[in-house]
Amino acid sequence: MAMTKPAARPANPRFSSGPCAKIPTFSLDKLADAPLGRSHRAAIGKSKLKAAIEETRELLGIPADYKIGIVPASDTGAMEMAMWSMLGARKAEMVAWESFGAGWVTDVVKQLKIDADVKTADYGEIVDFATIDFNNDVVFTWNGTTSGVRVPNGDAIPADRDGLTICDATSAAFAMDLPWDKLDVTTFSWQKVLGGEAAHGVLILSPRAVERLESYTPAWPLPKIFRLTKGGKLIDGIFTGATINTPSMLCVEDYLVALDWARSVGGLKGLINRAEANAKAVWDFCEARDWIANLAVDPATRSNTSVCLKFTDARIKDGAAFAKAIAKRLEAEGVALDVGAYRDAPAGLRIWCGGTIETADIEAMLPWLEYAFAAEIDAQA
Ligand SMILES: Cc1ncc(COP(=O)(O)O)c(C=O)c1O
Repeated sequence: MAMTKPAARPANPRFSSGPCAKIPTFSLDKLADAPLGRSHRAAIGKSKLKAAIEETRELLGIPADYKIGIVPASDTGAMEMAMWSMLGARKAEMVAWESFGAGWVTDVVKQLKIDADVKTADYGEIVDFATIDFNNDVVFTWNGTTSGVRVPNGDAIPADRDGLTICDATSAAFAMDLPWDKLDVTTFSWQKVLGGEAAHGVLILSPRAVERLESYTPAWPLPKIFRLTKGGKLIDGIFTGATINTPSMLCVEDYLVALDWARSVGGLKGLINRAEANAKAVWDFCEARDWIANLAVDPATRSNTSVCLKFTDARIKDGAAFAKAIAKRLEAEGVALDVGAYRDAPAGLRIWCGGTIETADIEAMLPWLEYAFAAEIDAQA
């Protein structure tokens, strides 16, 4: 096992799973066109917000009759707006296989107190979608960021379902194919796959989701920040760029710059290919070694963005301390920042492989992982 330090280092050691690495061409002067100090409701502000919405539609291939809104409080804001506004009309089915999905279960069961079936799987596994009744409202996460397990495709979701599907796609959008006809509510935030800035959420609604909003009023009060309807009608402004409260025009500009870069690498297909190439480099590394493995049990569910890894060497005495020491060593060497597993997840590493990451950086980092592993095994002894 290599104990000497590798000669090469990644040009960019940022492999955090959120906020994720900025686009490779990023520099602050790219944001010079941001209409700073202007009202977001002035023509320039509105046109930037509208462009952010329409370019999102174009890049992600979202149908023309779906609504796309920019909302407060990031992905959590978008998900909670949807759940608080739409759930309760029928039974809910809550599907979770890691920390964020589990958070949505808590919202629905403990806070909203909605009649719900809860289906969970352990870290590394996924719930069998064939067991889900899609005549209920189903809430799930497309890519479990903290376990690195994703839904392989939307085949199990029936086209003629009666319930709504509410999907947290924050670490999936721009890296995986999302079947829009199977998704009624989809959410993501800018700081994930496109490496944008935090605090803004995107809420995507199918015509059936809009119909629910316009025909159902929940029994509980909704704060202004969550309200999507007025007088029983969708507030259309939210979906054309008139946000509920004040957005950051600097963040909007940054998102527009990221979308522009995304187009330059081949749009959605190009982004997916980049994520796949990055993830494959990590998968191949693991397959060639007997001391590290993907946390995702079924290869069909392996994430191509938040790749979660576990150490499997029998010599490891304290799994949590060992994984932490590896992450610390990689950070100290300046070769991989923020790659420790999520706090609620099993001990291990999590390496972000979304499209803003360069495959060359993954390839330059992996020999350091090998080095850090050998060094920590040694340090243990
Ligand atoms: C699957 C998932 N859902 C929700 C969140 C929370 O996102 P935000 O901080 O944008 O609200 C995250 C953050 O990592 C996530 O990975």
